[in-house]
Amino acid sequence: MNLSETKAFLVGKGFSETVDAAVILGSGLGGFTAMVENGISVPYQEIPGFPEVTVAGHGGELIQGMVGDKRVLVYSGRFHHYEGHPLERTVIPVRIASEFNAKSLVVSNAAGSINTRFSVGDLMLIDDFMRFGFKSSTGNEMASTRYANNNEIKLAHKVGLDLGIQLRQGTYMFVKGPVYETSAEIRAFRYLGADAVGMSTVPELLEAQKLGLKSLGITLITNMSTGVSKQKLEHGEIKEVADSRKEDFGRLVAEILQRM
Ligand code: HPA
Repeated sequence: MNLSETKAFLVGKGFSETVDAAVILGSGLGGFTAMVENGISVPYQEIPGFPEVTVAGHGGELIQGMVGDKRVLVYSGRFHHYEGHPLERTVIPVRIASEFNAKSLVVSNAAGSINTRFSVGDLMLIDDFMRFGFKSSTGNEMASTRYANNNEIKLAHKVGLDLGIQLRQGTYMFVKGPVYETSAEIRAFRYLGADAVGMSTVPELLEAQKLGLKSLGITLITNMSTGVSKQKLEHGEIKEVADSRKEDFGRLVAEILQRM
């Protein structure tokens, strides 16, 4: 299945041929779809070329509609490498966004905090990332990777100030998962300079950069990572924390989309 066939299918469902931007929603953040006006929604399982979504808490639908003045593709639910999808497939949403001529991409995720100064519920802008020991972008090139999104980070901080939403900034450690980390791994990651740890987002950001889209990654801290607090980690908590920040997250992303 090539991307132009996927696009043709979606246009057949009523999608416009072009969009301004795309948003990929992480675990528990599916509530953002309420920000979309005049949206047309298509379940992932109907879309030719789309893999199936399995993790609880992921809606699994693609919506095209308006957020403020911008026409946006919103992906509620994502494809994780740990679910067995090859990296090439985890970035299909980004490639489709590019096929619709999206100029910018906001990618969100739930992650554990490594930084002891952060708290559960914090929103963190991803200014750089680390990839721990496995292939994490789709290219075969051996060239070094420099991910650069300084302008988008600046813009997001400005939006945060204007809306009165406190934002953190930091480095995201990408692990394959699906198991959570050991305390020793978290200590090591902290020593290396990582602020948060999660199992997604990096392939999508790199693909966006490769395709020439402006990109911004936003992490919601849903738990302190292993060993940082005594609490045991459970997937259910992610949803609770995400729900408690739903409103701020929605306002933040909606306004970033207007200005990006
Ligand atoms: N580790 C890895 N991925 C995660 C975590 C975590 O603590 N929390 C949410 N996603």
